[in-house]
Amino acid sequence: MSRRHGKQCDYDWLECGDNLQLMVRMPDSCCDLVYADPPFFTGKRQSQSKGGHKFGDNWPGGLDSYLEFLKPRLEQMHRLLKPTGSLYVHLDWHAVHYVKVLLDEIFGDRNFLNEVIWSYRTGGRSRRWFARKHDSILVYVKQMGKHKFHVLRDGEFRTEGMNYDEKGRPYKSTKKGRLYFHPDGPALTDVWEMPFLSTVSSERVGYPAQKPEALLERIIKSGTDPGDLVADFFCGSGTTLVVAQRLGRQWIGCDVSKEAVGLARKRLRGAASSKKRS
Ligand SMILES: C[S@@+](CC[C@H](N)C(=O)[O-])C[C@H]1O[C@@H](n2cnc3c(N)ncnc32)[C@H](O)[C@@H]1O
Repeated sequence: MSRRHGKQCDYDWLECGDNLQLMVRMPDSCCDLVYADPPFFTGKRQSQSKGGHKFGDNWPGGLDSYLEFLKPRLEQMHRLLKPTGSLYVHLDWHAVHYVKVLLDEIFGDRNFLNEVIWSYRTGGRSRRWFARKHDSILVYVKQMGKHKFHVLRDGEFRTEGMNYDEKGRPYKSTKKGRLYFHPDGPALTDVWEMPFLSTVSSERVGYPAQKPEALLERIIKSGTDPGDLVADFFCGSGTTLVVAQRLGRQWIGCDVSKEAVGLARKRLRGAASSKKRS
């Protein structure tokens, strides 16, 4: 890691250790986007049968101890963001509502941009409650209005019953004239339907709670430009770093687990060599 501004900060850097120790060494306002996928406060040790990797998500001190763990780390993430930067915090029903309150305090509620719902169908269904089939991603910006945000488009417009022009393009007739649909489809909403990684997915590296690359692709594309710095201080198997690298962003990653960092290194090497081959 080289030195900038008298403190350690360089890019395409992967560190094994407690993320707080890394973040306090980094200068203010150096990151364009931070994605945080911490343990979710499930009260279990997270593991996946394939590969046998594990990470702890047990909090003997209860919710207070979980929030005490997160608070200084989220404060650092706030400090590290550029005025144009954004933070994506990935959680589920276990603690998201408490972390929302914490983030409102740190960022100011005016800087809350979105709650993205990642909806999926995988896994079992209970007979005793509505099956829990979504994660929440809280999005905060450092300074509302200054923040970087690119509209992404996906899917198709519903064009049944529309008028068509001489070139066959559908349009709506309005008082102001013809309203054409964007050729790349509608702008993404805050509900993202996307499958969980299947057990046979070629992306799977056997790490529990590994996120799909397609999810990180959306996040990174909407919040950054090529060359920007993307940070993931709970990087696990390195999904964010691999996607950032593929999209031409700089990246910085950290995880306390040696196994996770080993997997992330392997994935990054694989991604770099497949880029060379293509
Ligand atoms: C939900 S997993 C991240 C999964 C990752 N997004 C992926 O796609 O593989 C959470 C990670 O946080 C790591 N972690 C927990 N406490 C940490 C700490 N204090 N510093 C760094 N990493 C930590 C765990 O080891 C675990 O790998």
